[in-house]
Amino acid sequence: MLRVEDVEVRFGGVQALKGVSLEVPDGALVGLIGPNGAGKTTLFNVITGLEKPFRGRVLMGDQDVTSLPPHQRARRGLGRTFQRIEVFSSLTVHENVLAAAEARRSWGRDEPEPARSASELLERVGLGDVERERVDKLPTGLLRLVEVARALASRPRLLLLDEPGSGLSTHESEALGDLLVDLVRDGRSILLVEHDVELVMRVCQQIHVLDFGSIIATGTPDQVQRDPVVQAAYLGTSAA
Ligand SMILES: Nc1ncnc2c1ncn2[C@@H]1O[C@H](COP(=O)(O)OP(=O)(O)OP(=O)(O)O)[C@@H](O)[C@H]1O
Ligand SMILES: [Mg+2]
Repeated sequence: MLRVEDVEVRFGGVQALKGVSLEVPDGALVGLIGPNGAGKTTLFNVITGLEKPFRGRVLMGDQDVTSLPPHQRARRGLGRTFQRIEVFSSLTVHENVLAAAEARRSWGRDEPEPARSASELLERVGLGDVERERVDKLPTGLLRLVEVARALASRPRLLLLDEPGSGLSTHESEALGDLLVDLVRDGRSILLVEHDVELVMRVCQQIHVLDFGSIIATGTPDQVQRDPVVQAAYLGTSAA
């Protein structure tokens, strides 16, 4: 589904990504964890086309999309949410998702009833009860779910989620985990950036650990949790 090859990004003197390679197989839920400033969001920006890498390639399926602009990657099935929430604050929850469903219809794909699919998606992420509320009335945690629903409205085959669990209660974060598992069961692939290690360990089949711009470990949740290098860099002794 997605292949990132040897990506390098520099911001002035900061080398934000150094030779990063990873894959997200079809139908897989893959985690990307690491300390603050490790380069996780930068990697998402490279994958979605917001950041041009100094070196390296991004492939979706067999296609090299490295030089495609973001909207063309979206049309090829790439969706994302943002770490810094980006919703239309004066619109309702439903209208936020509807905007994305309408956009999808404008691409000429079959999206016969955007209003209904927006409602269905909101139901699915657990926001059915608040779909007529203005989003600026919602707590941060729920705004993240609005973003997830909005990303889903473009019907992505690959979804990049940048800390969707932040600001969620324990109960909400469990529900989010179940939702993610459900979404990949439907055939989507997900790359998940998340500081809620418990959530990542519970739902991901494979995890990459990024530290100072480099992948320092890749493996199953178990392998990553036991890895002494990862413990030193990120998980610390308590999590281990
Ligand atoms: N536009 C930019 N200009 C300059 N430096 C940047 C820019 N974006 C990111 N950086 C730097 O690149 C590094 C990686 O940042 P990035 O936001 O990708 O980390 P992150 O892993 O997402 O961190 P967090 O967990 O805090 O979200 C940091 O040192 C950051 O300060
Ligand atoms: Mg980030």
